[in-house]
Amino acid sequence: MSIDSLSQESRVFPPPPSARQASWIKDLPSYQKMYERSLADPEGFWGEIAGEFFWHRPWSRVLSYDWKNKIEIRWFEGGQTNLCANAIDRHLPKHADRTAYLWIGNEGEEKRITYGDLARDVGRTANALKRLGVRKGDRVALYLPMIPELPVAMLACARIGAVHSVIFGGFSSDALKGRLMDSGAKILITSDGAFRGPKKIPLKEMADAALAAAAKEGHEVPTCLVVRRTKDKVPFSLGRDRWWHDVVPEESPECPAEVMDSEDPLFILYTSGSTGKPKGVLHTTAGYMIHTATTFKYVFDDRPEDLFFCTADIGWITGHSYLVYGPLCRAASMILFEGVPNHPKPDRLWEIVAKHKVTILYTAPTAIRSLMREGEEWPAKHDLSSLRVLGTVGEPINPEAWMWYHRVIGKERCPVVDTWWQTETGGILISPLPGSVPTKPGSACLPFFGVEPAVFREDGSECGVDEGGNLVIKRPWPGIMRTVYGHHERFRETYFSRYPGAYFTGDGARKDADGYYWIVGRIDDVLKVSGHRIGTAEVESALVSHPAVAEAAVVGFPHEVKGEGIHAFVVLKQGVGAIHESPLRDHVAGELGAIAKPDRVQFADALPKTRSGKIMRRILRKIAEGKPEEIGDTSTLADPSVVDALVKSHGRGGH
Ligand code: WT7
Repeated sequence: MSIDSLSQESRVFPPPPSARQASWIKDLPSYQKMYERSLADPEGFWGEIAGEFFWHRPWSRVLSYDWKNKIEIRWFEGGQTNLCANAIDRHLPKHADRTAYLWIGNEGEEKRITYGDLARDVGRTANALKRLGVRKGDRVALYLPMIPELPVAMLACARIGAVHSVIFGGFSSDALKGRLMDSGAKILITSDGAFRGPKKIPLKEMADAALAAAAKEGHEVPTCLVVRRTKDKVPFSLGRDRWWHDVVPEESPECPAEVMDSEDPLFILYTSGSTGKPKGVLHTTAGYMIHTATTFKYVFDDRPEDLFFCTADIGWITGHSYLVYGPLCRAASMILFEGVPNHPKPDRLWEIVAKHKVTILYTAPTAIRSLMREGEEWPAKHDLSSLRVLGTVGEPINPEAWMWYHRVIGKERCPVVDTWWQTETGGILISPLPGSVPTKPGSACLPFFGVEPAVFREDGSECGVDEGGNLVIKRPWPGIMRTVYGHHERFRETYFSRYPGAYFTGDGARKDADGYYWIVGRIDDVLKVSGHRIGTAEVESALVSHPAVAEAAVVGFPHEVKGEGIHAFVVLKQGVGAIHESPLRDHVAGELGAIAKPDRVQFADALPKTRSGKIMRRILRKIAEGKPEEIGDTSTLADPSVVDALVKSHGRGGH
């Protein structure tokens, strides 16, 4: 394949010459050669890369795995290292004064944190955690806003070998309770509150409720460390609660990095699946480190003079991998932004880019779509000429949004890298490289080094060119998750049972004649709402926990800004009078968090079910999409007349 022969069915954007020059990989044949080598000789390929990191003891074997029976994956077995030492200590001799984070607060406050500062803050925090009784292997829950203490606490955990579990600050206290219990957290670190755009979120109150509920259900978390952020007066539980500023600053900044085996756990991050309970995705040390650092290097073409701005919250995997571990391992400089893109005005991101001369911007399609709607006058007010590479992540990007990003933000000079990956994959798996891979709007393009994807039919045979099927990965990459925490069987069942010997992603995709991947979206009951992953089953169980609700079924529908919206069909209990939809929507927000609030609630007398009682979601999806003509055959339903009633009531009241 050469650039000239790339198929003409869609628009192709060759890398701009400036990007080519600055790139680690300068043309498509070089990418192809390196990719082929990474598959032919994974030991050599990854071994050489790993050699650039700091090790207490080198590994004896690059990769061993079993994807058929036990489902085990080991990278750099026998090796001993510490991720925090690689992310910080390794850089101190030369780069102690380099900016690690430029923190920008919700209201515009700024704080520069160098690698030297980070070393000191992390050392103190690590010692404080030890003093509070945290030992290697213990789980530490972090429920914090986007303030420097969040990455500092993560790195402190990594330093002493504790396993962090970050819970996104937008999750409810109930969601927090579930995660505290499932991970068996020994300590919770939170803050008095959080600023988020025009809103203030009472994190400590929510944390208190979660701690109380966990204790009631048998899991006592003995310590809660509280960072002061909003300065609001918050309840304090004597004996359990400690202020960060009382505990951390008095510690010594020197704390030796614990010697960690390559496969020692690094963190747990909960994510939604197709059943009601979120999964604790477990990532380990060496493979994750090498994968995130290497993808950061090649996908964003990082240079020492770059300023990288990833707008994701650290509560999601994007923040873990590309606001903390990957870039820090590359001694990169980053913006850490506490606020939101449209506060105080819709030019907040563009203002930051111009003021600080951001060179690489990584954001979500949903943010691009919502800023696109605000109009071109907002980016036009600012000088965006420092930008060099633009990235997107989290959901499929529609070509219109891609083109806007490319034209209005990148001024047609910056390659757009549409990066496909998952919480489970740890780092980017499919993405163009800025200087070598021509892009096609809407396609995540080609696999990263060492990644071998395929599109499978239901029967496990490989799809032909442009034939839609299920996306799988045929061999392990270094950043793959190692288990579902405490539920290894669920790990096997979810990812390895559908196609024995391959990792099943849960995404639908097709591969075009040039080998480019086009990701269609989830094929399971998982929604991507503003890029956030939400299981329909979670929303349903939140709805039925409301006293008025007898039954609920939740489906996604196409949403112009959010990508997908949440449509809930609700059957009320007999004898309950009519109620409004808003208490139900608020109830879901209270149970799960505001991101899971249904956009629409449609009341129904009954749901379409087969004679065996299975809800026919296919039909509900068509109703929610407003395409009743595509419903098709309803003869297998126990009562087909239910469908007519739903079609009639759709779009009428109730939302
Ligand atoms: C799911 C994973 C990747 C980190 C943030 C989200 C969808 C992600 C893309 C993309 C199309 C994408 C997939 C995937 N997704 N990136 N570039 N193009 N779809 O991680 O919450 O674990 O979600 O997000 O459906 O399976 P996540």
